[in-house]
Amino acid sequence: MKVLIATDKPFAAEAVNGIRKEVESAGYELVLLEKYTEKKQLLDAVADVDAAIIRSDIFDKEVLNAGKNLKIVVRAGAGYDNIDLEAATANKICVMNTPGQNANAVAELAFGMAIYAIRNFFNGTSGIELGGKKLGIHAYGNVGRNVARIAKGFNMEVYAFDPYLSAEAIEKEGVKAVSSVEELYSTCQFVSLHIPATAETKNSINYDLLSKMPKKAVLINTARKEVINEADMVKLMTERTDFKYVTDIMPGNNAELAEKFADRYFSTPKKAGAQTAEANINAGIAAAKQIVDFLKNGNERFRVNK
Ligand code: 3PG
Repeated sequence: MKVLIATDKPFAAEAVNGIRKEVESAGYELVLLEKYTEKKQLLDAVADVDAAIIRSDIFDKEVLNAGKNLKIVVRAGAGYDNIDLEAATANKICVMNTPGQNANAVAELAFGMAIYAIRNFFNGTSGIELGGKKLGIHAYGNVGRNVARIAKGFNMEVYAFDPYLSAEAIEKEGVKAVSSVEELYSTCQFVSLHIPATAETKNSINYDLLSKMPKKAVLINTARKEVINEADMVKLMTERTDFKYVTDIMPGNNAELAEKFADRYFSTPKKAGAQTAEANINAGIAAAKQIVDFLKNGNERFRVNK
């Protein structure tokens, strides 16, 4: 059996070593494709492997069809919007993610970005502090929980909205549950996004919602660029000269935002949230273990497709 690591953005070397250990001790062979520049390289690499570990790498119908022996694809990370689940199911390929494994890394970055924004991108002028401010966590999953934990250390008032969780489930963790997304945005000066990119959420962070945020609002996006309505963001930031936007996923209109709002907007050049040695090791090794357990024992615990 062959297990491919296909990562446009490579894992830390320790993570690759850890994955290799898991794969080889199960008696399988590891194949490595890193920093590929053309889809053809991916199509060739999947052609004869049984399993694949990927990150945000695009596994569309063409790639999944090219993987004639593919039985399982594990997204080492949380969001699996880069994988065509229907095509995977049609090809009898199991798709999994590794929930929670990189959550702390992403949560820590959210605070790094928030502080960078409110200290005016370290330009030497007087900023503001997180302590005592209201933070809204939009979607209370693994990353949202870690954000809440860290926010308490900053002495923030923590609110959350998650349509899939009861108020009790959120409040038992010392976080105030609000009953609508509008309430979250109108209550909190800081909002940290942790929603996946789905048909429902795409473009959902729009002018109406953002314009509800209090004065000196800061939106922190370590989730997905697709959830933001990009034209609305320009309109909002043009009108609201107090509004700051920091994102770890470069928007389609990055050049326009950077030019118009240089002192209130920042995007990382490449998604950095999960790019730590620890997150790479946690997610990569979890992915390898899940593959071995699936191929040897049929364990489908983290399956995300039908
Ligand atoms: C995730 O969904 O796990 C994060 O967005 C991290 O993505 P990455 O593995 O491409 O850095």
